[in-house]
Amino acid sequence: MSDLSRLTSREATFITRRYQDYPGDSFTLERARATGAYESLKKAIATMTPDALVELVKASGLRGRGGAGFPTGNKWSFVPRDAFPRYLVVNDDEGEPGTFKDRELTERDPHAILEGILIAALAIRAERAYIYIRGEFGLGYRRMQQAVDDARAAGLVGRNIAGTDFSCDVFIHRGAGAYICGEETSLLDSLEGYRGQPRLRPPFPAVKGLYAAPTVVNNVETLANLPHIVAHGSDWFRTFGTQQSPGTKLFSISGHVANPGNYEVALGTTLGELIEVAGGIPGGRSLKAVIPGGASAPWVTDTSLPMSFEALAAAGTMLGSGAVVVMDDTTCVVRMAMINTRFFNHESCGKCTPCREGTWWMRKVLERLESGEGRPEDRGLLLELCEDLLPEKGAPASGRSFCPLGDSAAWSLRSIVKIFPEEFLAHVEEGRCPVRAGEEAREQEVRA
Ligand SMILES: Cc1cc2nc3c(=O)[nH]c(=O)nc-3n(C[C@H](O)[C@H](O)[C@H](O)COP(=O)(O)O)c2cc1C
Ligand code: SF4
Repeated sequence: MSDLSRLTSREATFITRRYQDYPGDSFTLERARATGAYESLKKAIATMTPDALVELVKASGLRGRGGAGFPTGNKWSFVPRDAFPRYLVVNDDEGEPGTFKDRELTERDPHAILEGILIAALAIRAERAYIYIRGEFGLGYRRMQQAVDDARAAGLVGRNIAGTDFSCDVFIHRGAGAYICGEETSLLDSLEGYRGQPRLRPPFPAVKGLYAAPTVVNNVETLANLPHIVAHGSDWFRTFGTQQSPGTKLFSISGHVANPGNYEVALGTTLGELIEVAGGIPGGRSLKAVIPGGASAPWVTDTSLPMSFEALAAAGTMLGSGAVVVMDDTTCVVRMAMINTRFFNHESCGKCTPCREGTWWMRKVLERLESGEGRPEDRGLLLELCEDLLPEKGAPASGRSFCPLGDSAAWSLRSIVKIFPEEFLAHVEEGRCPVRAGEEAREQEVRA
């Protein structure tokens, strides 16, 4: 996926790369072309039909890296055969707390994304692609725009790409700071100039998306895999990862690790190995819990878990966006739950009552617990609030909120309350945050 991986061809030994190891000019067209950029695009145009491209990506087993893990080739095949125009929309909104891999990918390797965009556009026969980039990504935006401009000047974007019949123009749209606009249908509304709120599905974007035309929405990391799949084939791609989660994944590792950052590892690497890759937990402390896939994911404590879509789903959580937040034994889980819930409440778009009201009440209860004014019934109340948002047993996967943001707030909070019941109780019994009280006592000892 990366410039460096082009240099090494990501042969079987390829396991981890920190983006910090990138050459300083990796974002330039000159550097990208020196390491093979746009050769896969030319190969695809010259030797493959759109249908063959779709089949190749299906065979590779590539799954979306934006959060849901939907098989990319299957998604492409839902686009009706004869409806034109159709669009490719590129999700570079990256708002999930703990996730910072798309930002770094955009800043350091924009041509990998752009080549992936053009390959995807060729596959779905789209002549226009829109990149929806998070508003706060100043450097990423400038580099992406530079990449598009340079590629256009080199005849790689626009009409008759590389002197062939294939044409595709690429436009960049900057977001305005709402997490919900990362959700694909809100993103489409925002792109059309409306307030970003989720749309009712069906119809799904592949049938009726941007400007009511067939639209594929893909994450930037998903697309950056495509040049490598075209260059080396689907079997090669499957030499990395697991049967159901082939390939590598960028993980943003933060929290209590010695070397936080973005790391690319094969899917299926265990959580414990991933923490070691990031330098382990510093200061001889022990692990308390991990958020394995962004703020939306239920927490886990088992470091033997393989980081694959299927293993994490079986463990009751999810790989999500690949944001791994490591917490050592000094962490107050009630405080973390409060911070998480504040985020979801702040970002709730207000369209449906269970999420708008539910996240507000969760936040209020957590704030009073953390400030020492919690009540004995608060733990049960939090679980009830979560259940009010989640699906009933045996019901389809999504719950009572209009979009997954509401489910996410409840999934993560419910897991915290269930794993750490005694900490919620301690906040009530002691009338204060025990972790903070311990910290204050230690500070006083040091001062004395
Ligand atoms: C609340 C919410 C926020 C989301 N934010 C992002 C995001 O920032 N970036 C992203 O690629 N996908 C995000 N998604 C997932 C997208 O809806 C969509 O599944 C994804 O862009 C599809 O691309 P992929 O198949 O390549 O993963 C979000 C979903 C939800 C429900
Ligand atoms: S679940 Fe939340 S974010 Fe989603 S539509 Fe309802 S209010 Fe908006």
